[in-house]
Amino acid sequence: MQIIRDVPELRAWRDTLPAAQRVAFVPTMGFLHEGHLSLLHEGRRRVPRAQGSLVLSIFVNPTQFGPGEDLDAYPRDEARDLALAESAGVDVVFTPSDPGAMYPSRQTWVDVEGLSATLCGAARPGHFRGVCTVVTKLWMLVRPDVAVFGEKDYQQLAILRRMHADLFLGGEIASMPIMREPDGLAMSSRNANLDPQARTSALNLPRFRGEVERRFARGTRAAGELVAGAPEALAPGRIDYVQVVDAASLQPVDEVARPTLVAFAVHFGGVRLIDNVVLTP
Ligand code: PAF
Repeated sequence: MQIIRDVPELRAWRDTLPAAQRVAFVPTMGFLHEGHLSLLHEGRRRVPRAQGSLVLSIFVNPTQFGPGEDLDAYPRDEARDLALAESAGVDVVFTPSDPGAMYPSRQTWVDVEGLSATLCGAARPGHFRGVCTVVTKLWMLVRPDVAVFGEKDYQQLAILRRMHADLFLGGEIASMPIMREPDGLAMSSRNANLDPQARTSALNLPRFRGEVERRFARGTRAAGELVAGAPEALAPGRIDYVQVVDAASLQPVDEVARPTLVAFAVHFGGVRLIDNVVLTP
């Protein structure tokens, strides 16, 4: 496994790759868990070693964190990540040693309007601008045939698909379902920052998500009824949002008549967790 720590070296690697070789790419912020590994396995499945390279990026992207957010507290463990990457069959890890190297000027941004205005975009101004900008930069450096993202970040995936189409980035975007801990908590690097009490309280999130699914299975279609009782069910979590939105436009809906996303963002013990379920009538 080759470890590349600066942009010119990554460009040189990509430029000398024979044209017949394909590239699968998994961008991450590191502190890898089973969810990331499922993305890597999908990348490897789509581009077997005989056909090309599996590239992983590990970069805690500063521009997608707002003031007062958890940039400094974001969990990091490079040695563990590299060992996991190696065992997942990664060929190349790009992990810039100087975060500033990804932002020569901080004057050029990629912003997807509309889809970025709701949910996490409303709660975290500038977040998706940072995500879109870094993913565009990484995409232009790695020039993947396929890049794989997780469905836990449903809104991020929707925005990146829009951006990918609008900017003619080439290649394709693939996605993988949410991976969960045995007790139901959606896997996230941020789970490592939950103290034991917050970790226990955080289970109210997958529990309530399950309750929404059961209500839907029993025939409930009204948005208000689907998420009724959220503050009590998610306590002591501090709710950022619990919203019922159209799964394509991400605009709020009153009832489930088309594929609909129920999206959650809740803080437990100071750690912001997200989860979601797509309801298809
Ligand atoms: O989902 C993530 O880990 C990040 O938002 C991403 C896509 C790697 C961009 O920094």
